[in-house]
Amino acid sequence: MSKPKVFVTRRIFPEALDMIAAKTHMELWEDELPPPKDILLEKAKDCQGILSLLTDELDAEFFKTAEELRVVSQIAVGYDNIDIAEATRRLIPIGHTPHVLNAATADMAFLLMMASSRRLVESQIFVKEGGWRTWHPMHFLGPNVYGATLGIVGMGRIGLEMARRARGFDMEVLYTDPNRRSPEDEQEFNLKYRDLDEVLAKSDFISLHVILTPKTHHLISKREFHFMKPTAVLVNTARGSIVDHAALYNSLKKREIFAAGLDVTDPEPLQKDHPLLSLDNCIVVPHIASASFSSRLAMSNLAAQNLLAGLNGERLPNCANPEVYGAR
Ligand code: GLV
Repeated sequence: MSKPKVFVTRRIFPEALDMIAAKTHMELWEDELPPPKDILLEKAKDCQGILSLLTDELDAEFFKTAEELRVVSQIAVGYDNIDIAEATRRLIPIGHTPHVLNAATADMAFLLMMASSRRLVESQIFVKEGGWRTWHPMHFLGPNVYGATLGIVGMGRIGLEMARRARGFDMEVLYTDPNRRSPEDEQEFNLKYRDLDEVLAKSDFISLHVILTPKTHHLISKREFHFMKPTAVLVNTARGSIVDHAALYNSLKKREIFAAGLDVTDPEPLQKDHPLLSLDNCIVVPHIASASFSSRLAMSNLAAQNLLAGLNGERLPNCANPEVYGAR
C-alpha cells in the first residue's frame, strides 16, 4: 500500500517529524510564516492528512478542496481557526493537543499577573534607558498578588491550574463558568462560584480561560471594564478577541483599570504601532503561553500521534469533534 501524503504546515520538534516521516510522504512547510491561502489550497488537493497551526485558516473552501483528506491534526488546544462544523459534516476528525499545555499556560498567566502588577517591563525599560537615579519610596508602586482576590473566567483545565497556583499565594478565588465545578474541587481549591459581573467587580486580578466562540467574542467589553476595580489587572492567555481591544485601550489609558497582561491579541500579530503598545500599563507577549520546552515537545508528539491515528482510521487520542465517530 502506498504511503499517505501529508502536509505539515510548520517545523515542529524533530522527534515528531521523524514519527510522521516514517509512515507517510511528508511535505514540510519550512517558512517561519504560515503558508499563504493559495498554497494551502494547492496542498489540500491531494493530501490525506494535514498537521496545522492556529494561524492556518481551514475554512469551508479548504475542506471542499481537500477531497482526499482523512484527518486534520492541529498542534494547539484551541481550534477556532478551523471550520469544525464543516469538518464534522464531512466526517473528518480534528485532532488537538489539550492537557499537555495546561501547566505552561497557567504559569504564563500567573507570570503576566505578577509582571503587570509589579510593573516588571516598565521598570526594566526605565533602568535600560538610564532613568534609575535613586531609590524612591513612591516609585513603581503596584498591587500585591499575595493574598489578593483572583477572578477566573472559564474554569476548565487551565483555569483550574491557575487556581492551583493561587492557593500557594493565599488568594481568594472567584470563578465563573457555564458549568459549576464539583463540591470537591470547590473545596480543594477554595473556589467561590459567582456570576461574571460579580467576578469582575470583586476581583483584584481577572484571568481569562474561556474558549473563543461567537458567545465569548468581546465577552470583556466597555460595560465589563466599568465593573472592574481601578486597581484591577486583566490577564488574557486565551484568545485575543474575547476582549474588545478598543475598550481595553480606553480603560487602560484612562486608568479605569490598573494594567493588563496579554499573551493573545486581536489581531495577531499586533503591529508595532498599535495603540496598546504605546501604554506603559500593558504588557504584550507574542502568544507564547505554551512555549515551555516540555509542553511544546509533548504538543508535537501528540499532534503526530493524532495525525497517524487518523490516517490509520483509528480514533484520535485527542479529538475535538468526536461526533464524527458516532455518525460512522
Ligand atoms: C494556543 O493558543 C493553543 O490553543 O494551544
